[in-house]
Amino acid sequence: MPLVPMRQILDEAAKKGYGVPHFNVNNMEQAQAIMRGAEEVKSPVIMAASKGALKYSDMFFLRNIMNACIERYSKLPIALHLDHGTSVDICQTAIHLGFSSVMMDGSLQEDGKTPRDFDSNIEISREVVNLAHPLGITVEGELGCLGGIEDGIGSNQEKLTDPDKVKEFVEKTKVDALAVAIGTSHGAYKFKIKPDPDKNLLAMDIIRRIHELCPNLHMVMHGSSSVPQELIAQINKYGGAIPETYGVPLWAIKEGIKAGVRKVNVDTDLRLAVTATIRKYLKENPAQFDPRKYLEPSRDAMKQIIMERYIKFGSAGHAFDYEPMTLEDMKKFYENE
Ligand code: G3H
Ligand code: 13P
Ligand code: ZN
Repeated sequence: MPLVPMRQILDEAAKKGYGVPHFNVNNMEQAQAIMRGAEEVKSPVIMAASKGALKYSDMFFLRNIMNACIERYSKLPIALHLDHGTSVDICQTAIHLGFSSVMMDGSLQEDGKTPRDFDSNIEISREVVNLAHPLGITVEGELGCLGGIEDGIGSNQEKLTDPDKVKEFVEKTKVDALAVAIGTSHGAYKFKIKPDPDKNLLAMDIIRRIHELCPNLHMVMHGSSSVPQELIAQINKYGGAIPETYGVPLWAIKEGIKAGVRKVNVDTDLRLAVTATIRKYLKENPAQFDPRKYLEPSRDAMKQIIMERYIKFGSAGHAFDYEPMTLEDMKKFYENE
């Protein structure tokens, strides 16, 4: 107990109108920060591994770290999710590893960069749904292309989602959730100018229109790190060289959640928190060489960001609202659909 299908976490979020953060994980400290934060504020958890994370961790290590979270935090609902799967094979691998949710990012070709056309996106997404749903596993698709090639995932031809294509895509593929492109991008370099709440930063009208056309669809906002300015300042103060840059402010994310976004993807903010903490620690403690001494405060810094996101997106306090479903339960749900 309880690895849950991500679909349940999103369905429950939709019932009460909140958003759930998706946090990327690459190592033990990140996983612990995500779980410690969730336990403290009582939030359901979506823990995600990218293809890069699986490669970095040699796959088996990350799988066991994620399983350790399920064992150690046995009361919290946890979805293990593959982020940006770019082929049927990688989705299949995640399914074999025991993930309860996979993203088939059919907006891009297998290189994770080149846009894929609409029909081929439908075809590959449906293929993954056909593999996953009979096992009770959730599938997220993507329509439109995000920018931000710096992380290795994203297109250099950013293309916002066309709301008029969404209904057809969802009906034909049967995906449980859909990543939409509304002007965010992956990584730390999203906006060069400080976002102004009085000016349109993101294409919220796209989200609102999709919600009107497909009110039951769970939308996903990728590239949603806020790039906290105090972390950039701390990195630069202690030897870093990050140029002026801004992320997606929490007020913009809240607007999205109000309009039907149920999952909000955050990775970069945790990377910034780790780097800022380690830089400061090492500068102030030049004689120290025990990695635990700087990994511990960096884990705490991630936990602070994580708790803030659980609270601000609204998932805090909802971990025990519902009886966790098993993949078997979800299998039956799909059979009767
Ligand atoms: O969406 C992309 C995530 O930030 C994962 O990045 O491939 O470097 O793990 P990564
Ligand atoms: P950030 O780079 O903004 O954290 O986005 C992460 C993401 O979208 C993972 O899928
Ligand atoms: Zn993403």
